[in-house]
Parts: sequence; C-alpha cells; structure tokens
Amino acid sequence: MEMKNTHQLEEGTYDREAELKAFDETKLGVRGLVESGVTKIPRIFNSGLLDITENAPTDSLLSVPIIDLRDIHNNHAGLIDQIRSACKEWGFFQVINHEIPITLLDDMIDGIRRFHEDPEVRKQYYTRDFKRKFLYYSNTSLYRDKSANWRDTVGCLMAPNPPKPEELPQVLRGIIFEYSKKIMELGCTIIELLSEALGLNPSHLKELNCVGGLFIQGHYYPPCPEPELTMGTSKHTDIDFMTIVLQDQLGGLQVLRDNKWFNVPPVHGALVVNMGDLLQLITNDIFISVYHRVLSSHRGPRVSAASFFLQYDSDEGKSKVYGPIKELLSEENPPIYKDTTIADMMAHHLSKGLDGNSALHPFRL
Ligand code: OGA
Ligand code: NI
Repeated sequence: MEMKNTHQLEEGTYDREAELKAFDETKLGVRGLVESGVTKIPRIFNSGLLDITENAPTDSLLSVPIIDLRDIHNNHAGLIDQIRSACKEWGFFQVINHEIPITLLDDMIDGIRRFHEDPEVRKQYYTRDFKRKFLYYSNTSLYRDKSANWRDTVGCLMAPNPPKPEELPQVLRGIIFEYSKKIMELGCTIIELLSEALGLNPSHLKELNCVGGLFIQGHYYPPCPEPELTMGTSKHTDIDFMTIVLQDQLGGLQVLRDNKWFNVPPVHGALVVNMGDLLQLITNDIFISVYHRVLSSHRGPRVSAASFFLQYDSDEGKSKVYGPIKELLSEENPPIYKDTTIADMMAHHLSKGLDGNSALHPFRL
C-alpha cells in the first residue's frame, strides 16, 4: 500500500477518506506502517504541531497519589481518606500491594506485545465489528476523529459473558483469562473502598452493577518517527464507571489537573485507577472523571492494558437507568445530572469520537 505524507502533498490533493480506508484495509495497524519502514507519519495521523506549552514537563511537587492497599487491614480509615481525596482532586490514583503477582502483570504486557508483533496472527482478527467479543483494530473512531492516533488495540469482552478460549489467539488465551479474574477481584475491592469513601454502604456501588461488566483493551504504541505531530491517545475521559490501567515502563500517560498536564510515572508492579464519566454522573460530581492522554514517542513500543468496568453487552446492562445516587443528594447538593442509560451514553460517546469534549455534557440538567 502506498501511504502519502504531508510533505509530498500539495494542498487540495488530499483524499483523507481514501487514505483512511487504505490504512484500515491493510489490517496491520500502525505497527504495520512501522514494519514497512515509514520515516514520516502518514497525513491521516498528522494533528498539526502539538501545543508545546501543553507538553511542557511540570516541576510541580504535586503528583497522582500512590495508595498502598496493605492499609486495608491496618489503617482502613486512613486509606479511605486517601482514596476520597484522590478521587475528588485527581480522579486518578495508583495502587501498590494489590495482591496481583507482578509476574502476572509482566506476562500480560508480554502477551499483548507478542500479539501485536505477529502480523500473521493479528491480521486474522482485524475488524471494525465492535459487537465481537475479541477483536483487533487501530483507532476506535478512525473515520470520525480529526487525526488518527499512533496506536493499535486488541480488545476482549471478559464479563459478564466471556468468549470461549478457542475464540482467542494462543498468545493471549491463558494470560487474559488469568489477568481478567484478578482484575475483577481487584475491581470489586476498589469499588467497595470507593463506596466507603462516599460514605455509603461498602456494597452500594457493586449493587448498582458498577463492576458487572469488564472490557479489556491491550494497547500497543509503536515508536513514532514524528511524535511532535501525533498523539498516542488524544485527550479524553473514559465513559465507564472505573478503569484500571497497567502500563509498562516507558511512560507517556498524562492527566490534566488545573489546566496542566501531569505525568503518571510508571511504577513497576503498580496499577493506575481512574474514575469514568458514569461514576462522575452517579456521584453527582463528588468524584471526577478527568481528561487524560498518551503522548507518542520515538521510544517504543509502549504497551498498556486498560480494563474498563461497564456492562454494555446485554439489554439488561445497557438499559439500566442511572442518575445521581439519592443518598449523596441534599438541599445544598441538588442533582446536576438527569437519569440516563448506558446505551444513551455509549451512543453519544461513539458518535462524538475523540474530540476532546466531555461525554457528560448532554446529560447535565
Ligand atoms: C484508555 C487509556 C491509557 C494508556 O484506554 O482509555 O486512557 O496508558 N489508556 O494506554
Ligand atoms: Ni482512558
């Protein structure tokens, strides 16, 4: 396939749709471009020179909190306080001593990497049919976004209805089931802590089905020849209740706070937890779903696994009505959001793509 780049093209000769289609039809993702030896990014990825001031490293002493889950037993009240302020101020925290073996985390990163580095295997799974339980693709909203991201993804729906093991490629089959089981257990633990941090009964959020669904994405960010012109993942919020991200040692994940981008520094063995739009909605803005992004880099590949807690693959999950939790409302804190369903939020989220705006906006009262 021939991929043109910015420098070879004159204004007006750019058929973006055709170039997106040509890229999509390779079924080999961004990694395929790198394998073919590109030294410039194709124009479909070019977002224009990224705002350098936004990219400036911050020397602030503030950073995304690291929370030690060993405190569950010996300092429970202190732990709940830490989680509450992290969720209110950052919408993000990292957890250590979460009881998932670090070797399992390393194996998950390794499995994702190997899948993305085998063109014969990954090509077989490439699709834009998002109803599939297991799929490989590049850029969820490829045809809608202003510029494509320098990233490929393998996705697997793990709960409540996981695929059959034989529907998965060999390299991921064992590890993804094992990882998913552990992440679900950790998700249940954290959602209980979040309930407590809100002053609710520990089982409250679980009873609202906040951890009833799990979708895992294994992202692969190939090394990028022109990282100043394209993002790994554009600025966005997650639509789900909560996301747990495993990142490798390369870095690049950033969180927006007070209009400044903060790095989420890789900590070997730690997991990154962030609140999604649905949690912001049901907590009536007590907990916040915060903008984040991933920079592309000359160094790479960077590999991450993002686990999204949200049930959307059944009518029961999708049509359940969510609104601000009554126990959190009062005269001083009236509801900010109207009742909505996951189906409605997903529809809005998918139609807008990664446009940098919050998906919550239309659901405000
Ligand atoms: C996401 C996400 C971060 C990462 O998948 O929504 O923000 O580190 N991923 O890949
Ligand atoms: Ni995200």
